[in-house]
Amino acid sequence: MKTATEIDIRTEGQMARTHYLNVDLGVKSWLLTTDHKRIGILYLWTILIFFVIASVAAAMMRLELLTPQGDLVTNETYNKLFTIHGVLMVWFFLIPSIPAVLGNFAIPMIIGARDVAFPKLNLLSWYIFVAGGALALWSLIHGGVDTGWTFYTPYSTTYANSHVISMAAGVFVAGFS
Ligand code: HEM
Repeated sequence: MKTATEIDIRTEGQMARTHYLNVDLGVKSWLLTTDHKRIGILYLWTILIFFVIASVAAAMMRLELLTPQGDLVTNETYNKLFTIHGVLMVWFFLIPSIPAVLGNFAIPMIIGARDVAFPKLNLLSWYIFVAGGALALWSLIHGGVDTGWTFYTPYSTTYANSHVISMAAGVFVAGFS
């Protein structure tokens, strides 16, 4: 049984712990946030989703490689698997991980700034990244790409028979973000 004083102390402690995670709750408060730490977290969850999808492709490749025969997927599908694995891992996980997640979250605090210079533009950048990722996933769902993550020619031009343009556009849009 706690005394009234103990309860008061705990309440004060809880009020003092208000921070960027609990200052405002709800999906809208996250989707419209201009707080650099929250935007860093938005990037973190987004790149983790791409990491999981790319990992599923990696797991399917390793399963296919259990035996020399093509038991699980065709040669064409295998090419598409390592391409989507590479595209998502490199452009939508590895590259944004340090500048977008850590950069947003930590740099303003490290340099002692209240936030980044243009917080709304910072949020817009995340939306543009999501749009690029959506375009890449659209290309995946509609048949994928078999060029490898570098989109080297002539696989991506003369011999292209997959969704190279939409996938490359997705990467370009993400790069622009
Ligand atoms: C447990 C984790 C992973 C597994 C099992 C895995 C597995 C594979 C496999 C089987 C290939 C295809 C090899 C081939 O047939 O040519 C591949 C390619 C590749 N992986 Fe991973 N991978 C993993 C994690 C990662 C990570 C974390 C990254 C980068 C952040 C990455 C980047 C790439 C790239 C760039 C390629 C080449 C894609 C291409 O040729 O277009 N992988 N991986």
